[in-house]
Amino acid sequence: MSESVSTAFIAGYSLKAHNTFGFDVCAQFACRIEREDQLMAAVRDPRAAGLPRLVLGGGSNVVLTGDFAGLVLLVGLQGRRVVREDADAWYVEAAGGEPWHEFVAWTLSQGLPGLENLALIPGTVGAAPIQNIGAYGLEMCERFASLRAVELATGDLVELDAEACQFGYRDSFFKREGRDRFVITAVTFRLPKVWQPRAGYADLARELAAGGYVGSADPAGQQPTAQAIFDAVVAVRRAKLPDPLQLGNAGSFFKNPVVDAGLFETLKLREPDVVSYLQQDGRVKLAAGWLIDRCGWKGRAMGAAAVHERQALVLVNRGGASGAEVLALAQAVQRDVLTRFGVELEAEPVCL
Ligand code: EPU
Repeated sequence: MSESVSTAFIAGYSLKAHNTFGFDVCAQFACRIEREDQLMAAVRDPRAAGLPRLVLGGGSNVVLTGDFAGLVLLVGLQGRRVVREDADAWYVEAAGGEPWHEFVAWTLSQGLPGLENLALIPGTVGAAPIQNIGAYGLEMCERFASLRAVELATGDLVELDAEACQFGYRDSFFKREGRDRFVITAVTFRLPKVWQPRAGYADLARELAAGGYVGSADPAGQQPTAQAIFDAVVAVRRAKLPDPLQLGNAGSFFKNPVVDAGLFETLKLREPDVVSYLQQDGRVKLAAGWLIDRCGWKGRAMGAAAVHERQALVLVNRGGASGAEVLALAQAVQRDVLTRFGVELEAEPVCL
């Protein structure tokens, strides 16, 4: 790396445009990162020594409860390309700062299907592996090949494969041992050449069946195209999930809780219509949105923080709410769900 790489540290920088809740908080310093070498220089810069650091891509999975006394790295790394192919798959690399949805749309425009179920998820490519984004029957880890990241302590560039990333449901190494230790600069996806539609998720199947999608079925009326799935996912998400540009939010605020079979049986006796998904290990995943809805929280507000009126799993900023207000609302929801169902809800976004 050349010593002449310049990095501008901006003092007193507003983060309002850098978090999808739209919280009006300030960073002591911020630094825009457009290239990997700038990032390596920034983390080694003496001005950053000893300062807490926060990495922000789209800011779509974070609750900023106050000003950040440290250095915020604004990851704007751009670029996407097919890096190689073998007999079975294409390998596509995208830089960490690429907006996720635009990247997915681009893969389809290049005739490379496989990510269509993950259309319209807010945030950046670099954020996708951290919580292993998932929707409508697909998790990112199923298409993941490897990633590159810069280690904050050393400024070194490392490459990690799927095993090292330890993906789980909305979970990875980067939420546990790797937390606050790396900046993901590029992700490579493996898109199989033999493409199979994933159209079984109830909302998606319903939307596809409702029809009107170009290429939603082949002439024999059998299977939808990747583009039809993409369009249907976009339609379902637009109908249910608020656009962060219009109503601040961070997607699902809670993970769907997984409970043991015993607790589930007790619950099912009391609440026969509880929405549940049996897991391979015999435990049962519950729809947190249903639990919250059943507690009467859908559409309710505490100040300017509210539970979204069309999807109870999403907390929103109706305008001017602080991170602390959203957290207070989240805690009230958690208390009610625990009291009524004996189930603990875990927040999905990182709360700072
Ligand atoms: N439900 C209600 N009331 C509500 C919300 C949901 O009764 O207010 C019921 C629904 O009727 C359905 C069930 O709960 O029977 C599940 O709802 P939905 O299909 O909307 O999915 P979800 O479990 O609430 C998960 C992901 C979403 C993802 C969707 C679709 C988590 C935490 N959330 O939501 O991911 O888009 O499935 O795959 O796993 C995100 O992570 O930010 C996110 C939006």
